[in-house]
Amino acid sequence: MLDPAAARSHAEAGVTGLLGEIGGVGTDPHRGGYTRPVYSPAETDLRDWFVESATRRSLDVDTDRNGIIWAWWNPARAPLTDAVVTGSHLDSVPGGGAFDGPLGVASALVAVDRLNRSGLRPARPLAIAVFPEEEGSRFGVACLGSRLLTGDISPETAARLTDSDRVTFAEAAVKHGLDPRRLGRDDEALGRIGVFVELHVEQGRGLADLGQPVAIGTSILGHGRWRLTITGEGNHAGTTLMSDRRDPMVAAGALITAVREIARARPGARATVGRLVPTPGGTNVIASRVDLWLDVRHRDDAVTGDVVRSVGDRARTIAAAEGCTAELVEESLSRTAHFDAGLNARLGAALPRAPLLATGAGHDAGVLSGHRPAGMLFVRNPTGVSHSPSEHVEPVDAEAGVEALTTVLRDLLTA
Ligand code: GLV
Ligand code: MN
Ligand code: MN
Repeated sequence: MLDPAAARSHAEAGVTGLLGEIGGVGTDPHRGGYTRPVYSPAETDLRDWFVESATRRSLDVDTDRNGIIWAWWNPARAPLTDAVVTGSHLDSVPGGGAFDGPLGVASALVAVDRLNRSGLRPARPLAIAVFPEEEGSRFGVACLGSRLLTGDISPETAARLTDSDRVTFAEAAVKHGLDPRRLGRDDEALGRIGVFVELHVEQGRGLADLGQPVAIGTSILGHGRWRLTITGEGNHAGTTLMSDRRDPMVAAGALITAVREIARARPGARATVGRLVPTPGGTNVIASRVDLWLDVRHRDDAVTGDVVRSVGDRARTIAAAEGCTAELVEESLSRTAHFDAGLNARLGAALPRAPLLATGAGHDAGVLSGHRPAGMLFVRNPTGVSHSPSEHVEPVDAEAGVEALTTVLRDLLTA
């Protein structure tokens, strides 16, 4: 159990202090912000930092067969069932902010410090979970750890995913001490979760506009990712006449504009091409192929499907006009998630001033909500910007977030 004096000194560091400890890990001098892909040296350092921080608090730490780290506070030595679980992730998008993921992990550590310091000795266990590859920045599928845990992705599919250097997820897993044959749905680990509450920086302007520091999440917009491959003919930039070209980059440019048009014609739809890779990628080379990745989101899953079908049709038409071909492949799909109504009523009673807020960002809490009662707390981001170095949380709001999380966890632990 945590020594109360140690708890006091950790608690005094607060969330901002804890985030300061990892402020130099994974900084990206080119993009700005942080680049912390799963199982990179940066993310591995963060995982080690978490294990060390949890161990320093006398939490029992284990990593399950899908690479999810669990840190248990269980002063009553109760069986590990019906646990109150909180936590988030430590991986980031390329050039991401400091708070997306780490705010939830650091807030969870400080909340446990405060509960312990308050003298609470709950009969029910509490765990902090750290999920790998929440962003899908390295292997392409967001929330890969929680999808493996719940069986929402098959272990075979996950094992075959590759990163941009053609390293498979199975190879990366082995390197990080996991056995790829043991990946996949884990009823034992899932069965331990009685309830899951993830605290996260808000990734829009909802709270800033409402003038409130903390909100309770209601739903996550359905979203998915598709890879579009446009194939043409690689050739010489100087010797190939404009009339002789089959240039997939030209088709890709037209298609990106079409994606915006298609989404704008469907109210509430969001469609993004944020990544494009030409092959072979030389200044004086007409590309032979361009891969681009499409992210589509809408409250109504049927509209998401309609956007994607329309983009696929337009891709084939645009590619054909350029003498190219186009192929569209789904990489992941998450239906709109609604958080547990009973849990949200309880969060609302514990935090009567917190507004309710829907989000367009994906989270492990969304994946878990299909299997266990799950909910979220959002903390104000004054810039409203996320997946960018401009993402921000004021220390006073980080503190309000921890207070809210501590209140909610206490309420659930003493239920
Ligand atoms: C994750 O943050 C996502 O919404 O893509
Ligand atoms: Mn996140
Ligand atoms: Mn994110």
